[in-house]
Amino acid sequence: MNTASGITWKNLLTLILAVGGTTLLIAQAPANDEAIFPMPTGKTYVNECGSCHTAYAPGLLPARSWRKMMGELENHFGEDASLADPQQLEILKALESLAADSAQATMRMRRIHGAIPTNTAPQRITETGYFKYMHDEVRPSIWKRKKIGTLANCIACHSRANEGRYGEREIRIPQQ
Ligand code: HEC
Ligand code: HEC
Repeated sequence: MNTASGITWKNLLTLILAVGGTTLLIAQAPANDEAIFPMPTGKTYVNECGSCHTAYAPGLLPARSWRKMMGELENHFGEDASLADPQQLEILKALESLAADSAQATMRMRRIHGAIPTNTAPQRITETGYFKYMHDEVRPSIWKRKKIGTLANCIACHSRANEGRYGEREIRIPQQ
């Protein structure tokens, strides 16, 4: 990873593509467009949905994806992740209100949503166009490192992913 070159330019480019930018917007892009996603308040979400893997930021998928997933938790990627009704409902509401297509979505979340065909409800963040685009410079051999293992292991590299923070400065790629 090389923070000095390609990476920053990629962020700028996505922003320019998204807003058709003026010089002023381009100059301000990195500060205003940090990869920070709102997370559900309280501990329920991180406790229940962060026990097997990263507690993924709701803004990485649209509400229809979360609704589908929360409706079939007993068969969740081959695991039983079912919850008691009150928690299930609390989490679903939080996911819907902070989803990529929610009313308060940031510009970055809108871009994520814009790249997902409306007639689909993807269940994997790692299969969205945005994820693939953001990680196309990560070599396949890196994903296979022992401390990473799968693309879905965001927190292996994004040390503050459970707080919704994916900014470049908080990326630490494990060396093995
Ligand atoms: C019992 C363990 C377990 C619990 C609890 C659990 N999950 Fe998962 N989840 C999995 C497994 C296993 C996968 C597949 C991971 C992989 O392929 O690397 C997965 C994958 C996912 C993915 C797709 C990741 C990708 O590839 O982009 C999402 C999104 C997700 N889970 C959300 C949730 C949410 C929301 C909750 C809480 C309601 C939850 N999970 C609770 C085990 C769990
Ligand atoms: C192998 C380490 C690694 C893993 C695992 C990983 N990422 Fe990344 N991620 C990176 C790198 C490297 C970048 C590139 C930074 C750039 O180009 O700006 C990046 C960029 C991003 C960005 C854009 C950051 C920015 O500043 O614009 C987001 C959002 C993101 N990743 C989310 C995720 C999510 C969500 C997951 C898990 C589903 C994940 N990442 C898993 C290494 C990783």
